[in-house]
Amino acid sequence: MAEDMYVPLQATTLRSEEMTETERFFEFKLDSGEPLGHEPGQFAEVSIPGIGEAPISISSSSTRSDTFEMVVRNVGNVSNGMHQLSKGDKIGIRGPFGKGFPVEEDMKGKDLLFICGGIGLVPVRSAIQHVLDNRSDYGSISILFGAKSPSERLFVDELAEWKEDDKIDCFMETVDKGDESWAGNVGLITTCIPKVDHDISNTKVIICGPPVMYKFVLIELEKLGFSHDDIFVSLERRMKCGVGLCGHCQINGYYVCQDGPVFKYSDIEDEKGAI
Ligand SMILES: Cc1cc2nc3c(=O)[nH]c(=O)nc-3n(C[C@H](O)[C@H](O)[C@H](O)COP(=O)(O)OP(=O)(O)OC[C@H]3O[C@@H](n4cnc5c(N)ncnc54)[C@H](O)[C@@H]3O)c2cc1C
Ligand code: FES
Repeated sequence: MAEDMYVPLQATTLRSEEMTETERFFEFKLDSGEPLGHEPGQFAEVSIPGIGEAPISISSSSTRSDTFEMVVRNVGNVSNGMHQLSKGDKIGIRGPFGKGFPVEEDMKGKDLLFICGGIGLVPVRSAIQHVLDNRSDYGSISILFGAKSPSERLFVDELAEWKEDDKIDCFMETVDKGDESWAGNVGLITTCIPKVDHDISNTKVIICGPPVMYKFVLIELEKLGFSHDDIFVSLERRMKCGVGLCGHCQINGYYVCQDGPVFKYSDIEDEKGAI
């Protein structure tokens, strides 16, 4: 991180590739040559000169490379500016910021159940890569991924690898609505949860997806008897400073940029508007 957290570090675009109709994949490297030094689930503020700044999750694990990867949905000024980036173009980076998935302190030795919906796979992928690269530190690994349609699936090559990877004990994918190209599961991601062979006394659950998904996934986990202490959710709020000063991202007493974006569910379940 830069000495002054308000001063962006310069980074260079190594790859900029179309992923879906609305999402683009990027690989960046800091011009200093230093790794970003992020933990799984953290984010960075990405700035495009002359346009602005937006918080974007870091999608790769620092166990893989000194570069870092992001996936951006084109929704507004900064994300559209990012979609115009080509190899060699410069961006500004502040961060990494926030509390990520507790892969070291809470998850070691535990079975892990990752539940990702749509673009929620982006931050969770960094945790999945981390645990696969430190496989012996964890119990069983189960990954559930749901997308609205086959054309909205992200990281399709990596999903195919995970399906075949014998380091992953259970991998299930589903789409809300299939098409002629799709021979897999059709249905909401909640339908996959009871199909996993859970040892609920030893499992930590990681959830990230669109807001509507959390409520129904949490109901399903409750039915199976999971403790709220064993569930981690990654939340998204509008942000400005990214460092707990402006209050833009506040949920009552919590700043999502600093206390999150990853929270233990039991810590925020009573906070109105959190989920
Ligand atoms: C921790 C974190 C991680 C994130 N990770 C990713 C990621 O990995 N990939 C990704 O694509 N996105 C990610 N986002 C979301 C991203 O930061 C936002 O979509 C951001 O607003 C994009 O900036 P923009 O300038 O492109 O769009 P904006 O110009 O900010 O507009 C985005 C959308 O929000 C609406 N909007 C603008 N201002 C407001 C407002 N004040 N209140 C309500 N709605 C408003 C706009 O109408 C538009 O639909 C993340 C957000 C957070 C907080
Ligand atoms: S974004 Fe400013 S306090 Fe969180």
